[in-house]
Amino acid sequence: MKSLTESLPHTGEGIVIDIGTGDGRFVSAAAKENPNKFFIGVDANVKALEKPSIRATRKPTKGGLPNAMFVQAAVEDLPIEFDGIADEIHIHFPWGSLLRAAAGGDAELLSSLRRIAGDGCLLEIIIGMDPDRDRAELERLEVPVLTPVIIHTFVVPKYLAAGFELLEARQLRREEWAAIRTTWAQKLRFGSGRTVHYLLFRADAQD
Ligand SMILES: C[S@@+](CC[C@H](N)C(=O)[O-])C[C@H]1O[C@@H](n2cnc3c(N)ncnc32)[C@H](O)[C@@H]1O
Repeated sequence: MKSLTESLPHTGEGIVIDIGTGDGRFVSAAAKENPNKFFIGVDANVKALEKPSIRATRKPTKGGLPNAMFVQAAVEDLPIEFDGIADEIHIHFPWGSLLRAAAGGDAELLSSLRRIAGDGCLLEIIIGMDPDRDRAELERLEVPVLTPVIIHTFVVPKYLAAGFELLEARQLRREEWAAIRTTWAQKLRFGSGRTVHYLLFRADAQD
């Protein structure tokens, strides 16, 4: 599957924020391919951000990425410097409190996302779940097993109420999600039984 970044019309500019970036693989690859866009990888866990941060600050001739940076922050507490700056927001394979917030359409998460989104900002969310293997964790997080009915009746309305318009909601075919260039897409592709949901929203213009 082409990432959203690759499939967007090439305006040549824009700020892309990847929340729950993990080891930053998506940010590092996309920043290299889109030198005129600026990428910010955000994660609550600072440990995972160390290596990509060090790599990004090298000289460009040594693999550095002047158009990428990594920030430790929880989605619940995004820096005010992000307010209104994002042209694209990505959340790929969320887990823990990020999964609970994204899959449940948590009001606090959605207001944080709307706060950092510029008008017309695209919001791409990719959620993978294995109802059997992940059962204990989903129960602990009180996250429903996502189905198209649950998504359309329970999840999407919360995003609409928060100021996002739905552009697309569908289940990805295995070959589509296995080709996504994030570490977790690659880790999970060997298991069976996982369903992966793709949600794409656009931030409404604010008055
Ligand atoms: C399964 S990993 C996915 C990483 C990456 N997006 C990928 O696809 O390889 C989920 C990430 O979400 C981060 N995370 C969990 N809760 C978070 C929160 N509340 N705010 C920000 N990041 C969070 C975790 O630290 C972890 O790096």
